[in-house]
Amino acid sequence: MDDLIKRAAKELSETKNAVALTGAGCSVESGIPPFRGKGGVWERIDPDYASIEKFMSDPADVWNVLIKEMKDLVDKSKPNECHKGLAKLEEMGILNTIITQNVDGLHQMAGNKDVIEFHGSFAWQRCMDCSEKCETGKVDMSEIPPRCKCGGIYRPEVIFFGEMIPPDALFRSKQLASQCDIMLVVGTSAVVHPAAMMPVIAKQKGAKVIEINMERTPLTDDHISDYLIAGKAGEVMKGIITELERLM
Ligand code: OAD
Ligand code: ZN
Repeated sequence: MDDLIKRAAKELSETKNAVALTGAGCSVESGIPPFRGKGGVWERIDPDYASIEKFMSDPADVWNVLIKEMKDLVDKSKPNECHKGLAKLEEMGILNTIITQNVDGLHQMAGNKDVIEFHGSFAWQRCMDCSEKCETGKVDMSEIPPRCKCGGIYRPEVIFFGEMIPPDALFRSKQLASQCDIMLVVGTSAVVHPAAMMPVIAKQKGAKVIEINMERTPLTDDHISDYLIAGKAGEVMKGIITELERLM
Protein backbone atom coordinates (compact mmCIF):
# COMPACT_ATOMS: atom_id res chain seq x y z
CA MET A 1 0.00 0.00 0.00
CA ASP A 2 2.81 2.45 0.88
CA ASP A 3 4.40 2.14 -2.56
CA LEU A 4 1.07 2.82 -4.24
CA ILE A 5 0.48 5.84 -2.00
CA LYS A 6 3.87 7.18 -3.11
CA ARG A 7 3.05 6.48 -6.75
CA ALA A 8 -0.30 8.26 -6.50
CA ALA A 9 1.29 11.27 -4.76
CA LYS A 10 3.97 11.49 -7.47
CA GLU A 11 1.40 11.30 -10.26
CA LEU A 12 -0.84 13.86 -8.56
CA SER A 13 2.11 16.22 -8.06
CA GLU A 14 2.50 16.31 -11.84
CA THR A 15 -1.02 17.49 -12.68
CA LYS A 16 -3.26 20.48 -12.10
CA ASN A 17 -6.21 18.72 -13.62
CA ALA A 18 -7.41 15.90 -11.39
CA VAL A 19 -11.07 15.13 -10.74
CA ALA A 20 -12.48 12.91 -7.98
CA LEU A 21 -15.52 10.65 -8.02
CA THR A 22 -16.55 9.84 -4.46
CA GLY A 23 -19.05 7.54 -2.81
CA ALA A 24 -20.35 6.40 0.55
CA GLY A 25 -16.99 4.86 1.56
CA CYS A 26 -15.64 8.40 2.00
CA SER A 27 -18.07 9.09 4.81
CA VAL A 28 -17.82 5.75 6.64
CA GLU A 29 -15.07 7.13 8.89
CA SER A 30 -17.45 10.00 9.71
CA GLY A 31 -19.95 7.49 11.09
CA ILE A 32 -22.27 7.28 8.09
CA PRO A 33 -22.76 3.66 7.01
CA PRO A 34 -22.37 2.69 3.34
CA PHE A 35 -25.31 1.30 1.34
CA ARG A 36 -23.87 -2.00 0.19
CA GLY A 37 -21.76 -4.65 1.88
CA LYS A 38 -21.20 -5.46 5.53
CA GLY A 39 -22.95 -3.04 7.89
CA GLY A 40 -24.56 -1.37 4.89
CA VAL A 41 -27.96 0.31 4.97
CA TRP A 42 -29.46 -2.20 2.52
CA GLU A 43 -28.72 -5.05 4.97
CA ARG A 44 -31.36 -3.59 7.31
CA ILE A 45 -33.64 -1.67 4.99
CA ASP A 46 -35.19 -2.82 1.74
CA PRO A 47 -33.58 -0.74 -1.08
CA ASP A 48 -37.12 -0.23 -2.37
CA TYR A 49 -37.34 2.51 0.26
CA ALA A 50 -35.01 4.58 -1.91
CA SER A 51 -37.28 4.35 -4.94
CA ILE A 52 -39.50 7.18 -6.06
CA GLU A 53 -42.44 4.78 -6.48
CA LYS A 54 -42.25 3.82 -2.80
CA PHE A 55 -41.95 7.47 -1.72
CA MET A 56 -44.96 8.51 -3.81
CA SER A 57 -47.07 5.62 -2.56
CA ASP A 58 -46.23 5.97 1.14
CA PRO A 59 -44.18 9.06 2.04
CA ALA A 60 -44.76 8.66 5.80
CA ASP A 61 -43.28 5.16 5.74
CA VAL A 62 -40.20 6.31 3.80
CA TRP A 63 -39.74 9.25 6.18
CA ASN A 64 -40.01 6.97 9.21
CA VAL A 65 -37.81 4.14 7.95
CA LEU A 66 -35.13 5.90 5.91
CA ILE A 67 -35.16 9.70 5.91
CA LYS A 68 -35.35 10.27 9.68
CA GLU A 69 -32.35 7.98 10.21
CA MET A 70 -30.39 9.73 7.46
CA LYS A 71 -31.17 13.09 9.01
CA ASP A 72 -29.85 11.98 12.41
CA LEU A 73 -26.65 10.58 10.89
CA VAL A 74 -25.98 13.60 8.69
CA ASP A 75 -26.70 16.03 11.56
CA LYS A 76 -24.03 14.41 13.73
CA SER A 77 -21.32 13.85 11.13
CA LYS A 78 -18.15 15.83 10.50
CA PRO A 79 -15.56 15.61 7.71
CA ASN A 80 -12.83 12.99 8.20
CA GLU A 81 -9.27 12.71 6.84
CA CYS A 82 -10.59 11.66 3.44
CA HIS A 83 -12.67 14.84 3.03
CA LYS A 84 -9.88 16.96 4.49
CA GLY A 85 -7.30 15.40 2.16
CA LEU A 86 -9.45 16.10 -0.91
CA ALA A 87 -9.93 19.70 0.26
CA LYS A 88 -6.16 20.01 0.59
CA LEU A 89 -5.72 18.65 -2.96
CA GLU A 90 -8.00 21.40 -4.23
CA GLU A 91 -6.12 24.01 -2.21
CA MET A 92 -2.83 22.76 -3.69
CA GLY A 93 -4.22 23.38 -7.19
CA ILE A 94 -4.17 19.68 -8.09
CA LEU A 95 -7.86 18.77 -7.84
CA ASN A 96 -10.40 20.73 -9.86
CA THR A 97 -13.70 19.23 -8.94
CA ILE A 98 -15.34 16.51 -6.87
CA ILE A 99 -18.19 14.59 -8.42
CA THR A 100 -19.87 13.06 -5.39
CA GLN A 101 -22.64 10.53 -5.06
CA ASN A 102 -22.92 11.48 -1.40
CA VAL A 103 -25.70 13.76 -0.21
CA ASP A 104 -24.18 14.55 3.20
CA GLY A 105 -22.46 17.86 2.33
CA LEU A 106 -19.20 16.79 4.03
CA HIS A 107 -16.95 17.68 1.07
CA GLN A 108 -18.20 21.27 1.18
CA MET A 109 -17.87 21.33 4.95
CA ALA A 110 -14.23 20.23 4.57
CA GLY A 111 -13.63 23.20 2.26
CA ASN A 112 -13.97 21.95 -1.32
CA LYS A 113 -15.41 24.73 -3.45
CA ASP A 114 -16.32 22.86 -6.59
CA VAL A 115 -18.51 19.88 -5.70
CA ILE A 116 -21.01 18.38 -8.11
CA GLU A 117 -23.77 16.73 -6.09
CA PHE A 118 -24.58 14.00 -8.57
CA HIS A 119 -27.33 12.47 -6.42
CA GLY A 120 -28.57 15.74 -4.96
CA SER A 121 -28.27 17.13 -1.45
CA PHE A 122 -29.76 16.16 1.85
CA ALA A 123 -29.29 19.70 3.16
CA TRP A 124 -32.59 20.78 1.60
CA GLN A 125 -36.19 19.60 1.46
CA ARG A 126 -38.57 20.62 -1.30
CA CYS A 127 -42.36 20.86 -1.12
CA MET A 128 -43.94 18.47 -3.60
CA ASP A 129 -46.80 20.92 -4.23
CA CYS A 130 -45.40 24.47 -4.35
CA SER A 131 -41.67 23.56 -4.80
CA GLU A 132 -40.61 25.89 -2.00
CA LYS A 133 -37.37 24.77 -0.37
CA CYS A 134 -36.59 24.51 3.33
CA GLU A 135 -33.30 23.68 5.05
CA THR A 136 -33.51 20.13 6.39
CA GLY A 137 -32.47 21.34 9.85
CA LYS A 138 -35.41 23.76 9.96
CA VAL A 139 -38.13 21.36 8.91
CA ASP A 140 -40.81 20.86 11.55
CA MET A 141 -40.66 17.13 12.25
CA SER A 142 -43.52 17.02 14.76
CA GLU A 143 -45.69 15.51 12.07
CA ILE A 144 -44.50 12.78 9.67
CA PRO A 145 -44.35 13.29 6.76
CA PRO A 146 -43.37 16.89 7.43
CA ARG A 147 -45.39 19.44 5.52
CA CYS A 148 -44.85 22.86 4.00
CA LYS A 149 -47.01 25.88 4.94
CA CYS A 150 -49.11 25.15 1.86
CA GLY A 151 -49.90 21.65 3.12
CA GLY A 152 -47.69 19.85 0.59
CA ILE A 153 -45.34 17.07 1.66
CA TYR A 154 -41.59 17.71 1.90
CA ARG A 155 -39.16 15.47 0.09
CA PRO A 156 -35.37 15.59 0.33
CA GLU A 157 -33.60 17.21 -2.64
CA VAL A 158 -31.94 13.87 -3.40
CA ILE A 159 -32.30 11.56 -6.35
CA PHE A 160 -34.45 8.54 -5.61
CA PHE A 161 -34.00 5.37 -7.66
CA GLY A 162 -36.08 5.86 -10.79
CA GLU A 163 -35.34 9.59 -11.03
CA MET A 164 -33.09 11.42 -13.46
CA ILE A 165 -29.69 12.83 -12.59
CA PRO A 166 -29.93 16.65 -12.74
CA PRO A 167 -29.00 17.31 -16.41
CA ASP A 168 -26.44 20.03 -15.65
CA ALA A 169 -24.66 17.78 -13.11
CA LEU A 170 -24.54 14.97 -15.64
CA PHE A 171 -23.37 17.19 -18.49
CA ARG A 172 -20.60 18.83 -16.47
CA SER A 173 -19.43 15.54 -14.96
CA LYS A 174 -19.10 13.93 -18.38
CA GLN A 175 -17.18 16.94 -19.61
CA LEU A 176 -14.79 16.87 -16.63
CA ALA A 177 -14.34 13.12 -16.92
CA SER A 178 -13.35 13.42 -20.55
CA GLN A 179 -10.89 16.28 -19.93
CA CYS A 180 -9.09 15.31 -16.71
CA ASP A 181 -5.57 13.82 -16.46
CA ILE A 182 -6.28 11.80 -13.34
CA MET A 183 -9.53 10.54 -11.90
CA LEU A 184 -9.42 9.58 -8.24
CA VAL A 185 -12.23 7.15 -7.47
CA VAL A 186 -12.75 7.04 -3.72
CA GLY A 187 -15.05 4.80 -1.69
CA THR A 188 -17.61 3.85 -4.30
CA SER A 189 -18.76 0.35 -5.22
CA ALA A 190 -19.11 1.70 -8.79
CA VAL A 191 -22.27 -0.25 -9.52
CA VAL A 192 -24.76 2.63 -9.74
CA HIS A 193 -25.07 4.25 -13.16
CA PRO A 194 -24.51 6.74 -14.66
CA ALA A 195 -22.07 7.75 -11.87
CA ALA A 196 -20.01 4.61 -12.46
CA MET A 197 -19.56 5.59 -16.12
CA MET A 198 -17.42 8.63 -15.24
CA PRO A 199 -14.19 6.65 -14.63
CA VAL A 200 -14.87 4.68 -17.83
CA ILE A 201 -15.14 7.92 -19.81
CA ALA A 202 -11.96 9.24 -18.16
CA LYS A 203 -10.08 6.06 -19.01
CA GLN A 204 -11.29 6.08 -22.63
CA LYS A 205 -10.04 9.65 -23.00
CA GLY A 206 -6.60 8.71 -21.70
CA ALA A 207 -6.75 9.71 -18.04
CA LYS A 208 -5.16 7.70 -15.28
CA VAL A 209 -7.75 6.19 -12.94
CA ILE A 210 -6.65 5.65 -9.34
CA GLU A 211 -9.00 3.81 -7.02
CA ILE A 212 -9.06 4.03 -3.24
CA ASN A 213 -11.30 1.41 -1.68
CA MET A 214 -11.23 -1.29 0.96
CA GLU A 215 -12.26 -3.81 -1.67
CA ARG A 216 -12.02 -4.53 -5.37
CA THR A 217 -14.84 -3.18 -7.56
CA PRO A 218 -15.95 -3.76 -11.17
CA LEU A 219 -13.55 -0.92 -12.10
CA THR A 220 -10.67 -2.93 -10.63
CA ASP A 221 -11.78 -6.18 -12.25
CA ASP A 222 -12.40 -4.63 -15.68
CA HIS A 223 -9.02 -2.81 -15.60
CA ILE A 224 -10.64 0.60 -15.76
CA SER A 225 -8.56 1.64 -12.78
CA ASP A 226 -4.82 1.68 -13.30
CA TYR A 227 -4.39 0.52 -9.73
CA LEU A 228 -6.28 0.10 -6.48
CA ILE A 229 -4.93 1.48 -3.23
CA ALA A 230 -6.59 -0.94 -0.85
CA GLY A 231 -7.31 0.69 2.48
CA LYS A 232 -9.50 3.08 4.41
CA ALA A 233 -10.11 6.27 2.48
CA GLY A 234 -9.10 8.53 5.40
CA GLU A 235 -5.83 6.73 6.04
CA VAL A 236 -4.90 6.54 2.36
CA MET A 237 -5.71 10.20 1.69
CA LYS A 238 -3.70 11.24 4.73
CA GLY A 239 -0.76 9.22 3.43
CA ILE A 240 -1.03 10.81 -0.01
CA ILE A 241 -1.10 14.34 1.41
CA THR A 242 1.91 13.68 3.67
CA GLU A 243 3.85 12.37 0.68
CA LEU A 244 2.74 15.28 -1.55
CA GLU A 245 3.85 17.82 1.03
CA ARG A 246 7.26 16.17 1.03
CA LEU A 247 7.45 16.31 -2.78
CA MET A 248 6.24 19.88 -3.36
P1 OAD B 1 -21.84 1.77 -1.70
O1 OAD B 1 -22.37 1.56 -0.34
O2 OAD B 1 -22.43 1.03 -2.82
O3 OAD B 1 -20.29 1.45 -1.71
C1 OAD B 1 -19.41 1.90 -0.72
C2 OAD B 1 -18.00 1.51 -1.12
O4 OAD B 1 -17.11 2.05 -0.16
C3 OAD B 1 -17.75 0.00 -1.18
O5 OAD B 1 -17.06 -0.29 -2.39
C4 OAD B 1 -16.85 -0.26 0.04
O6 OAD B 1 -15.88 -1.28 -0.21
C5 OAD B 1 -16.16 1.07 0.21
N1 OAD B 1 -15.76 1.40 1.58
C6 OAD B 1 -16.40 1.15 2.74
N2 OAD B 1 -15.76 1.69 3.78
C7 OAD B 1 -14.67 2.33 3.26
C8 OAD B 1 -13.60 3.09 3.83
N3 OAD B 1 -13.51 3.35 5.13
N4 OAD B 1 -12.66 3.56 2.98
C9 OAD B 1 -12.73 3.32 1.64
N5 OAD B 1 -13.71 2.62 1.06
C10 OAD B 1 -14.67 2.12 1.86
O7 OAD B 1 -21.86 3.36 -1.93
P2 OAD B 1 -21.86 4.18 -3.30
O8 OAD B 1 -20.94 3.57 -4.28
O9 OAD B 1 -21.66 5.59 -2.92
O10 OAD B 1 -27.71 6.38 -4.45
O11 OAD B 1 -23.33 3.98 -3.77
C11 OAD B 1 -23.81 4.62 -4.89
C12 OAD B 1 -25.24 5.05 -4.74
O12 OAD B 1 -26.05 3.93 -4.35
C13 OAD B 1 -25.48 6.05 -3.64
O13 OAD B 1 -25.20 7.37 -4.03
C14 OAD B 1 -26.94 5.87 -3.34
C15 OAD B 1 -26.98 4.37 -3.33
O14 OAD B 1 -28.19 3.82 -3.58
C16 OAD B 1 -28.65 7.31 -4.26
O15 OAD B 1 -28.85 7.83 -3.18
C17 OAD B 1 -29.39 7.66 -5.49
ZN1 ZN C 1 -45.62 24.04 -0.38
